[in-house]
Amino acid sequence: MMEIIEIKENKKDYLDLLLLADEEEDMIDRYLDNGKMYILVDNGVKCECVITDEGNGVLEIKNIATVTNDQDKGYAKALIQFLIEKYREQYAVLQVGTGDSPLTIPFYEKCGFVRSHIIPNFFTDNYNHPIYECGVQLVDMVYLQRPF
Ligand SMILES: CC(C)(COP(=O)(O)OP(=O)(O)OC[C@H]1O[C@@H](n2cnc3c(N)ncnc32)[C@H](O)[C@@H]1OP(=O)(O)O)[C@@H](O)C(=O)NCCC(=O)NCCS
Repeated sequence: MMEIIEIKENKKDYLDLLLLADEEEDMIDRYLDNGKMYILVDNGVKCECVITDEGNGVLEIKNIATVTNDQDKGYAKALIQFLIEKYREQYAVLQVGTGDSPLTIPFYEKCGFVRSHIIPNFFTDNYNHPIYECGVQLVDMVYLQRPF
């Protein structure tokens, strides 16, 4: 049976998964304590996410990752669907920031997000080493949003 559980303590127990989505631990530390963490369990932990309240009715996904061998089975989409149902009354917009990468943007678009804005040079300004995905260096943070 699949279940989704909030993790309130020892969030670093899931560091391997967190690092899959955000490869610098210092950056994870910026949102992990203040964020709410959920894990999806289906015969073991399959997916995690961390969300933060950004004010003005905006809920942001700071980190979402599915165990490598269990990707493309609908787990991350199920976790996002859970967030939409749980937070629909409290927020107007669900947003996510990500690198401009073919590994992530199409996934969010499948989940109903559309591009909204960018933060130029976010990755080059904030990370202490260059981040590459699919051989392309990430530079700007791309924000996508969807209504609840
Ligand atoms: C991105 C990620 C979280 C998606 O998780 P997942 O559990 O594999 O995604 P799902 O199986 O729920 O996919 C939902 C839909 O998106 C599609 N999708 C997922 N990744 C895709 C990609 N790179 N390109 C195109 N479509 C993609 C799936 O095919 C599926 O489509 P469907 O609804 O038509 O069946 C996962 O690939 C991952 O953990 N990546 C590494 C960490 C990361 O980059 N996290 C995001 C940055 S914060």
